[in-house]
Amino acid sequence: MEALVTPSSCLECRGDGYRVEAEVQVGPGDGEGRRARAVARVCRCREPCPHCGGRGFLYTSRQVEFSKKVGPKQYEALAPCVCRLLAQRVSTFAQAGIPAHHATSSFTTFRAKGDDQEKTAALEQALGVARSVAQEWRRDRPARGFVISGRVGSGKTHLLSATLRHVVLERGASAQYREISLLYADIRRGFNAGKSGGEIISRLVDADVLAIDELGRGRGSPFEMETLDELIARRYNSGLTTIVATNFSLERERAPSHAPRGFQAPEQALDREELLVERIGERIYSRLCEMCDFVSLPGRTDDFRRTKQDGRPTRRLVRPAQ
Ligand SMILES: Nc1ncnc2c1ncn2[C@@H]1O[C@H](COP(=O)(O)OP(=O)(O)OP(=O)(O)O)[C@@H](O)[C@H]1O
Ligand SMILES: [Mg+2]
Ligand SMILES: [Zn+2]
Ligand SMILES: [Zn+2]
Repeated sequence: MEALVTPSSCLECRGDGYRVEAEVQVGPGDGEGRRARAVARVCRCREPCPHCGGRGFLYTSRQVEFSKKVGPKQYEALAPCVCRLLAQRVSTFAQAGIPAHHATSSFTTFRAKGDDQEKTAALEQALGVARSVAQEWRRDRPARGFVISGRVGSGKTHLLSATLRHVVLERGASAQYREISLLYADIRRGFNAGKSGGEIISRLVDADVLAIDELGRGRGSPFEMETLDELIARRYNSGLTTIVATNFSLERERAPSHAPRGFQAPEQALDREELLVERIGERIYSRLCEMCDFVSLPGRTDDFRRTKQDGRPTRRLVRPAQ
């Protein structure tokens, strides 16, 4: 069973059986001790489990025919209850490392509505691609991934997080999220500790679904780039699902600088000069072309962070009484 059916009357989880929230962990004061991530919790409506009362197992009856002479016989067997599966998914979700800020990012909370038709169509397309990757994923038939390109605040990390949330909590996949600069930092730390590239990335190589955010940002050292190359190559060879977000353009070529009048070259329209392929190199780019569908949000897609701010009433500064 892939989806966990739960009563839909619960107002807290709306029948999902879990809630996703932000968790902040404060560790030793090394500057990197504070870790904020999205975690899932089994909803109160599922505790104790309404199916098994918290035992974790259910009796099911099975019919088995050992011989024609005796005929079919009915057996009572113990089977794990769905609540065990849910507990496992909830714990896998916490290990994915999704940023705390995106605890509320799901397909349901993504608004595919721009202030003109072109933007709305692009947002709908991006949401559609991410959603179908998430819904089509099966362990024995991993879905093709996607690379989403767009400007700051256009909803890229939201869609990566929503996809991981769905594949882990609804489909039972294992997943990892890494922002590229943190991935380079992990590689550097591993390298300084004398580990090989393969050892450092083993967790990311094996995840059913891997999300790499901000690909192309910053330049890795030769060892970091080699390790990234190895990571993508190994996932490519195993046919695992990889999803990526980037601020850089997915166009193969730079748009001509002297475009004929009346023609707006896509690259100029996007106002994104640098190409992803130039940032990450031909080898990685070419593998991504085979592993993923490419989606571009249009250059003028609003920065959602600013839009939210614009909607807020301006606070008046009140001078303290002298
Ligand atoms: N279409 C949308 N519907 C609902 N919320 C959105 C949408 N797009 C963005 N947001 C929200 O706006 C904020 C910024 O979005 P997000 O972090 O996904 O942007 P981004 O494209 O990853 O930006 P950056 O390039 O800076 O990383 C988040 O809180 C996100 O949930
Ligand atoms: Mg982002
Ligand atoms: Zn509930
Ligand atoms: Zn149960």
